[in-house]
Amino acid sequence: MPITAPPTEAAPARLSVGSCDLMLPQVEATAGHGGLVVAALREQADLVTYDPGFMNTAATASAITFVDGKRGILRYRGYPIEALAEHATFLEVAYLLIYGELPDAATLADFSEKVNRHTLVPEQFRGFLAAFPRGGHPMSMMASTMNALATFYPEALNPHDPEAIAAATVLILAKMRTITSYIHRSMRDEPLLYPDYARGYVEDLLRMTFGVPYQQWNGNPVTAAAMDKLLILQADHEQNCSTSTVRLVGSAHTNLFSSVAAGINALSGPLHGGANESALAMLERIRSGGDSVAVFMRKVKDKEDGVRLMGFGHRVYKSYDPRAAIIKEHAHAVLDSLDARDELFDIALGLEEIALSDDYFIERRLYPNVDFYSGLIYRAIGYSPAMFTPLFALARMPGWIAQWREMMRDPATRIGRPHQIYTGHILREFVPLAGRGD
Ligand code: CMC
Repeated sequence: MPITAPPTEAAPARLSVGSCDLMLPQVEATAGHGGLVVAALREQADLVTYDPGFMNTAATASAITFVDGKRGILRYRGYPIEALAEHATFLEVAYLLIYGELPDAATLADFSEKVNRHTLVPEQFRGFLAAFPRGGHPMSMMASTMNALATFYPEALNPHDPEAIAAATVLILAKMRTITSYIHRSMRDEPLLYPDYARGYVEDLLRMTFGVPYQQWNGNPVTAAAMDKLLILQADHEQNCSTSTVRLVGSAHTNLFSSVAAGINALSGPLHGGANESALAMLERIRSGGDSVAVFMRKVKDKEDGVRLMGFGHRVYKSYDPRAAIIKEHAHAVLDSLDARDELFDIALGLEEIALSDDYFIERRLYPNVDFYSGLIYRAIGYSPAMFTPLFALARMPGWIAQWREMMRDPATRIGRPHQIYTGHILREFVPLAGRGD
């Protein structure tokens, strides 16, 4: 698959600006919309495009993930998310995203073994995590640990050395799984468990998070399967805020650890990955009698104090987010298997039902997104809301790694450096401090 978008046979677009008659060539996509190359705009007309929020700007070509927001389609490397969620495991999907092909059995066994064998983290991380104040947000801890990892593995930092990149890839996947469980336990002053190489990636994540030292761990297979699927569903989502951040930071030839740390910080925002935590807080508020469902929905529609229905709406999906549909099914299965019928789940179902038949949401094409139901599963498994976004970040590691690697290999990559439309003072005469305020 070419990384850089190839030119099309289609006639270039003609753009007249003042006396300039510009020809803007088109580039071709294998699926979805193609693009116009706008370089001539600045070169010939001294103009730049103005597109706040990048609503209509492709910053890169990519062969990793395809999203069709109108038809509710999500594919990794051409494979439908539904098929991957049903038949694959998280590490299989991680391999697919990073290396471009589904692994055969021997390759997957080798890859899983490599990741498993690196899950032990340096002992210093125990002290490092203990040094954070109680109540500090785990996303800040997670970003800090990612930066800290870079200091332990200088041999994996060179962004131009294939061996260093291969090492960084495995180290990040492996260590962040252990660190995610450590963050959960250190927030609760619980002992940190060592990895068990004989167990699978997800099974051992759950054991290290919820197991008791020196006691046999017999996890619930329904819970483990749901966790595996959640990780798969959140593993990549093309050029969203955090992934674009990883690429932008990486475009300065910043090492993989530091680039991914920037992605973790971007993901923490409540409009992005932080929405799963906010969605659960919203459901809790409604349950605890803060607002009835009807009053809350009126506030949302009146945009009172910027109130939003968290876990609803998406920049790209203008129909049902396919990830939300799968997660909703699993929420049913997990709650049933744990015999934990959850009042919050019923509130969420009620909110969805109202929203899907309400003109406000219909006109704006707002549907549940990946964050609406995921928190309910995490909660049923035993995670506190503060851990929801770190779990999203853990799931997104393969996507960020794949996107960073693709960016580094793409001959079209330049250091990311957007322009601006300057709207400040043109030129002012400096007045020394003593002369101001008259
Ligand atoms: N509740 C109520 N109104 C909404 C919502 C919502 N969740 N989302 C969008 N709107 C309204 C918004 O007020 C605007 O109305 P109007 O046209 O009257 O001004 C219209 O819909 C378009 O919204 P927008 O903010 O211009 O759309 P956007 O593409 O810039 O934002 C979004 C997308 C995801 C940030 C937004 O839908 C949102 O804030 N959702 C809630 C937070 C959330 O669930 N985020 C997770 C996104 S999925 C996972 C991820 O990417 O991390």
